[in-house]
Amino acid sequence: MSDAQPSRPPVAYQRLYVNIDHVATLRQARRGDEPDPVAAAQVCEDAGADGITVHLREDRRHIQDRDVERLAPIVRTVLNLEMAAADEMVALALGLRPAQVTIVPERREEVTTEGGLDVRRGGGRLARHVAALHDAGLRTSLFIVPDDDTVRASADLGVAAIELHTGPYAHASHDPRTRAALAAAASLGASLGLAVHAGHGLTADNVGPVAAIPEVEELNIGHSIVSRAVFMGLAESVRAVRRAMDAARGGVAVDGGGASGH
Ligand code: PXP
Repeated sequence: MSDAQPSRPPVAYQRLYVNIDHVATLRQARRGDEPDPVAAAQVCEDAGADGITVHLREDRRHIQDRDVERLAPIVRTVLNLEMAAADEMVALALGLRPAQVTIVPERREEVTTEGGLDVRRGGGRLARHVAALHDAGLRTSLFIVPDDDTVRASADLGVAAIELHTGPYAHASHDPRTRAALAAAASLGASLGLAVHAGHGLTADNVGPVAAIPEVEELNIGHSIVSRAVFMGLAESVRAVRRAMDAARGGVAVDGGGASGH
């Protein structure tokens, strides 16, 4: 179902989507009702987040169905729902209609999302899920490793976007090859007409070189923002990342491409 897409020009404004999963992790530690991810989403938006990301895992270890149901009507920016390529999840997405669905690989025993999607091997099943989301008019992104073949295979599936896994970069940001791989995949993705997103393991300290990649339109950042919120408050933690992104892009950001600048 791939339509030939014109190459995508670099964007001046880069979106920051804040992943609030770990607000729910803290709540689930006591199975109570605080801290509330919905309240956290509102603080993030007030502090300048362009979108709210949640990962509804199949094991429901942090975000619960009820959280997504409450967030969907309340998020003023856009809701990006991360989920596995599974029938149950696609059905949920079709009902909730988030602005964006990001398909991620999931293994129950993992601590967090560990690798990218195996787009080539998972092709048939993924294609079916992508087609269902596409037919319902939902913008779909695939979380992948920055590798040429995987970028091309994603474009062949006809998705609107790819999210490049920045975990390897975050674990070895001193190694220029990790950033170079992201830059090359971003450039290839944009040349194939894909919107390029990135995320995983990014912090206010290491985000700069990734934020500076011209084709990267959107960053998804969660654990570090929520962690540092313990010390500086959530709003300031969001703003610290935003400042680091803007600094890396030469201060281009202030006009806001906004919430739904897909
Ligand atoms: N993007 C995707 C697809 C993810 O699965 C995650 C983790 O849930 C993130 C971004 C955010 O990663 P982190 O919490 O390390 O910032």
